[in-house]
Amino acid sequence: MTQNSAAGILRRTVAAMPPHRGPQIEEDMAGVNAPLRRMSLNESADPPSPKVIAAVQQAVAGVNRYPDPKARALAAAISDRTEIPVSRIVFGNGSHELIMLMGNAFMEAGTRIVVPNPSFQPYQSAAKIAGADLTIVPVTEEGANDVDAMLAACNPAPRMVIAATPNNPTGALLSESALAKLIAGVPETTLLVIDEAYFEFGRLAGGPDVLKALKARKAPWLVLRTFSKAYNLAGLRVGYALASHDELTEGINRVRGVFNVNRVAQAAALAALSDEPYAKASQKKTAAERDRLAVGLKAMGLSPLPSAANFVAVKTPKPGTEVVGALAKQGIMIVPVGGPPYENHIRITIGSAEDTDAVLAALKTVLR
Ligand SMILES: Cc1ncc(COP(=O)(O)O)c(C=O)c1O
Repeated sequence: MTQNSAAGILRRTVAAMPPHRGPQIEEDMAGVNAPLRRMSLNESADPPSPKVIAAVQQAVAGVNRYPDPKARALAAAISDRTEIPVSRIVFGNGSHELIMLMGNAFMEAGTRIVVPNPSFQPYQSAAKIAGADLTIVPVTEEGANDVDAMLAACNPAPRMVIAATPNNPTGALLSESALAKLIAGVPETTLLVIDEAYFEFGRLAGGPDVLKALKARKAPWLVLRTFSKAYNLAGLRVGYALASHDELTEGINRVRGVFNVNRVAQAAALAALSDEPYAKASQKKTAAERDRLAVGLKAMGLSPLPSAANFVAVKTPKPGTEVVGALAKQGIMIVPVGGPPYENHIRITIGSAEDTDAVLAALKTVLR
């Protein structure tokens, strides 16, 4: 007998998930007769440092060999900067992969995870795949993780709590006092994960020193960071986790692909760290452009959420999907935030000065 469906093959938790769509990129914009401005994925508009480009060119010549499975040189450089021993650092193919690996290593049916919303969606996917119970905690009106509500969700103690600062897609930071409360209040048996994908931007905006605060916590914690945003390396996929205990990095090591971060990416990330002045200049330029975008939005009578990251979220008088569709026709790629009460919110990634001007001009006509 022939089987005309493969549906029964999927893991039950995977079969129950919504269809995979993936983000839009230029290839999905066929028929748009305007220059495309990719302001949708919170990437950097600047190319990587010339030192990175040189390191990549050199590393490419060695790609007949697998990469260092422990990314030793990169781990040593990050250990120097963070004072976290290399045994408590693990790399991922982007920090997105680390989130999925955390699901595999730490979550299972019968465990519970507390996550903010709206926030980075893969937290929820990782929990769903593992069959874990999700507790979703709305962010505050300003878009920060709501620490009081997250702590209220910690009884009984969940396996894991994830917080993000700055939070994506809202952009808000955790204040120093909210962070301290979170660290003190999350139960000792719970893994507290703080996603700092936008760490460098957060610090630039005066955000608290999360790692320093966590180092005082005896109970398990883990910090996620990435080279995708502030180091202009989204296309090479390098993220890392800093953890409180060897057991946590060991757990992730057991479930990850041995060579998950490729040779070119490791060389690029190391070179990016060697050119901090370049990265800092790019971050400052982005922050200035973000503030200029916020001023422009306010001048249109809108109220952008306060952002410490490389994007701005703002409520519009029209549904977010409608605004996104109208801007797409002009070649401007942004995303809706979506989900109650954010149906009318859009998120705009900071690009070049011309991108800022173009998005403001387009919004003026679309929202008229
Ligand atoms: C909060 C947050 N965490 C993690 C990631 C994943 O970044 P990457 O996989 O590029 O390291 C993103 C990307 O947008 C993000 O916004």
